Amino acid sequence: MTKDRDFIDRLIAGMTLGEKIGQLNLVTPGGETLTGTVVNTDVADKIREGRIGGIFGVKSAEAVRVFQDLAQETRLRIPLMFAEDVIHGQKTVFPLPLALSASWDMELVRASARVAAQEAASIGIDQVYSPMVDVCRDPRWGRIAESPGEDPYLAARFAEAMVRGYQGGDLSRPDAVMACLKHFCGYGGGMGGRDYDAVDLSPMTLHDVVLPPFVAGMRAGAGAVMASFNTLNGVPMHANRAVITDLFRDRLGYDGLVVADYTGILELIAHGVAADRADAARLGLTAGVDMDMVSEAYLDTLAASVEAGLVDEALITAACRRVLEAKLKLGLFDDPYHRLDWGRAAQPILTAANRQLARQAVAAATVLLKNDGNLLPLPAPESGRLGAIALVGPFVHDRVNMNGTWAVAASPSTVVPIADGVSEALGDAVRLITAKGTNIVDEPWLAERLNVHDWKDLSVVIDERPPAAMIAEAVEAAGSADVVVAVVGEAREYSGESSSRSDLALPEPQKKLLRALKATGKPLVVVVMTGRPLVLAEEAALADALLIAWFGGTEIGHGLADVLFGKAEPSGRLPATFPYCLGQVPVTYAHRPTGRPTPGRFQKFTSGYVDLPDEVPQNDGLYPFGFGLGYGRVAYGPPRADRTALSGDDRLKVTVTVTNLGDLPTFETVQLYVGDPLASVSRPVKELKGFRKIVLSPRAAETVTFALAAADLDFSVAETVTDTRRRWEAGAFDIHVGPNSRDTQTVRVVWEMPDTQGDRS
Ligand code: NOJ
Repeated sequence: MTKDRDFIDRLIAGMTLGEKIGQLNLVTPGGETLTGTVVNTDVADKIREGRIGGIFGVKSAEAVRVFQDLAQETRLRIPLMFAEDVIHGQKTVFPLPLALSASWDMELVRASARVAAQEAASIGIDQVYSPMVDVCRDPRWGRIAESPGEDPYLAARFAEAMVRGYQGGDLSRPDAVMACLKHFCGYGGGMGGRDYDAVDLSPMTLHDVVLPPFVAGMRAGAGAVMASFNTLNGVPMHANRAVITDLFRDRLGYDGLVVADYTGILELIAHGVAADRADAARLGLTAGVDMDMVSEAYLDTLAASVEAGLVDEALITAACRRVLEAKLKLGLFDDPYHRLDWGRAAQPILTAANRQLARQAVAAATVLLKNDGNLLPLPAPESGRLGAIALVGPFVHDRVNMNGTWAVAASPSTVVPIADGVSEALGDAVRLITAKGTNIVDEPWLAERLNVHDWKDLSVVIDERPPAAMIAEAVEAAGSADVVVAVVGEAREYSGESSSRSDLALPEPQKKLLRALKATGKPLVVVVMTGRPLVLAEEAALADALLIAWFGGTEIGHGLADVLFGKAEPSGRLPATFPYCLGQVPVTYAHRPTGRPTPGRFQKFTSGYVDLPDEVPQNDGLYPFGFGLGYGRVAYGPPRADRTALSGDDRLKVTVTVTNLGDLPTFETVQLYVGDPLASVSRPVKELKGFRKIVLSPRAAETVTFALAAADLDFSVAETVTDTRRRWEAGAFDIHVGPNSRDTQTVRVVWEMPDTQGDRS
């Protein structure tokens, strides 16, 4: 990097107010898949006039070059910064973020982001609007698909891994892109699971649950953050100076760029806190939002507001400086075309290696929830033990849904459909019979909504055949097969932005199909494509084996075939609780105790649900956080603490021996949780504090060691959102270790820390 901060100082000193405001204007020219309803007009003219600082949603290297050329015609020749919604891959699509998080394999997560960065950079993208790190405990919210799930610790590790993958250590390199942590903050807690809805959070929950992934992402070097659409305790985030500037910048030390979300500045009017566009712009800028996405309220009103004495020009200069610093870090002042030029030479898109990683990611992310009689893996095709397989369901030949939500630059044509992957694996050895069996949904109005992005290919096509005929065909297929694999689930836009659901069930026509298949008596493998935790109590009862495959992306066909026939093990673990029923949500394993817990059996005046049977965990799901089976059989020894009495800066070592009792190699994700049974505030019953994904050979044992420091055990005592005090309290801690958040064994330690005990910031 030859240009430096002095260069930025000199540049700013020579800029007019209008040129500075131009840098804050972030627009989309529209075209292809839109990520909002408004698109900006006269983009080329505005670039020439120095009235645009950044562009997002551009889909080709040619278009990037044309726009960048226009910027080079301006007086100061300040390069444009190009951004894109690269959420789980650019052209090579990886499993959804929720699924990548389910891998609990942070090296894989990093590597997937590296591939995405290279593919995006090669067409001139400088910045990606990812990772999304909104902790979410309400699966009605469609955007849980984009999130790392319900747990702040897992989300924090995910945030770090994604940032490292995108930025690669040196943002000025042509194959690095700037990460943007989003959505800041609290967006995952909208009322009723509705998108964009109000969020009310205690300051303690804000600090202990919402902020950790943002802080981890910031410490990993993320160059940008995006404000969220929601209000937080009554203050819209785009106007939330306390949280963006006072807390995140001034107290927690964030020094990067803050961008608005799509029309987020203008929406301050609808939120009822801004009188008009000028007021909205003033509030946004004052809050610390540097770039105004799509609204153009900064562009249209800030100069007049400065003139009228309503806005301090220093705020504009500071925001402009942050935009220019981002461009500097990205190496754009040295060469605005360096990503494009690198891309033309490197051609990194959809390479065999990229596809191979995406294929591996499918198995790593897929979660096996049930496997009665070790039905899975199915016998290897060449073993001669299988005559025919029935592959049934509305997704078996599908390409359009497989990438899942937020794959805005990818093409369905590059997807390997499930039927193709399975057929390739079977070769001539086993007969493959396929049948659609059912529509994804039967209601035309719902299909129309779900087809929102599909102007070329529809993701939901309602068959002309009557439902009964489709089921009959599937049942016939099952009748001639040794085993049935039914692939069911959500359409891709059933989850994602603006796709909250009021119900978490599999669509009824698909349930009917499963019931009919069960009635054939054939062994039934149910594979669920989903972008969220679903209520699967009935499906779990019908299935002999149940796999959550999420949306697996480009290589789903190969990846799923690997899992079905045992070439790879499904080694995912749930990153969010799968509830027993809709009424349980929001739900998390990390709930606080109540004064009146339900003791095993329901009793009057206890906290459980009067209409849930006793065998159902009342505040935990059907499948708990962290749950997942493998193809091995793993036994846990008791956790051992190297000492049970600690003081001061002692480090606690906890070991556990895990043994694979099975005949197949297996991955195991060993999880460590901590509970603080007596404290000055009621603490969550368990909190994840460590995990390790290991591979165990058949019959092999391994001892896994975790280290805990006192600092891992403190908690927020915030009374306001800007209050960063944390407290460490001496006493007993329960260390829970196991294969998931429910099936743990416990060792208690007592930790005295008289010297540093108390509050700290
Ligand atoms: C709105 C979404 O909330 C955000 O995640 C996305 O990055 C922007 N649109 C830009 O498309």
